[in-house]
Amino acid sequence: MSYGLLLILHLLAAIAFAGTVFFEVVMLEGVRKHLPSDTMREVERAIGNRAVAIMPWVLLTLYGAGIALAWQHRAALAQPLSSSFALLLTIKIALALSVFGHFATAMFWRRRGVLRGARSRRLHLSVFSHVLAIVVLAKAMLYLQW
Ligand code: HEM
Repeated sequence: MSYGLLLILHLLAAIAFAGTVFFEVVMLEGVRKHLPSDTMREVERAIGNRAVAIMPWVLLTLYGAGIALAWQHRAALAQPLSSSFALLLTIKIALALSVFGHFATAMFWRRRGVLRGARSRRLHLSVFSHVLAIVVLAKAMLYLQW
């Protein structure tokens, strides 16, 4: 598959993923205080079930295309300190791996029935901060040079 097509797949999946996290952290948290807690729990359960059905495919596309793109930059990644691009890309990939760790933890907690309340909010906030940093790095690595 061409680099351009992989980049478009990666970007579309990144938009779907970052958009979902933005919706959960910014929009959903904003309506919490306007709804009864039982209703909110039902809404969160329904969104959670939908996310479990859709997000694995989004993540498969995001990480699959990301790995294929990174393969083309393997010479730079083998020497992360050799250029600003290599360093920023390395940090971006490390953060993306951390996001994957968050996702695996969320699935584990969800199966055990403990993914709720403050624990769930902290996890979402952490993923949101990671995603913001990843997107800034993804653009900075192309335009920042030293
Ligand atoms: C949470 C996960 C991730 C997010 C949100 C994300 C997001 C992005 C974004 C927004 C871009 C810029 C695309 C553009 O503007 O054209 C990008 C580029 C890139 N990503 Fe990711 N990414 C993620 C995971 C990964 C992973 C796991 C890898 C590799 C192992 C990776 C490798 C790359 C590479 C090599 C580019 C540069 C492509 C280029 O501009 O030539 N990404 N990523």
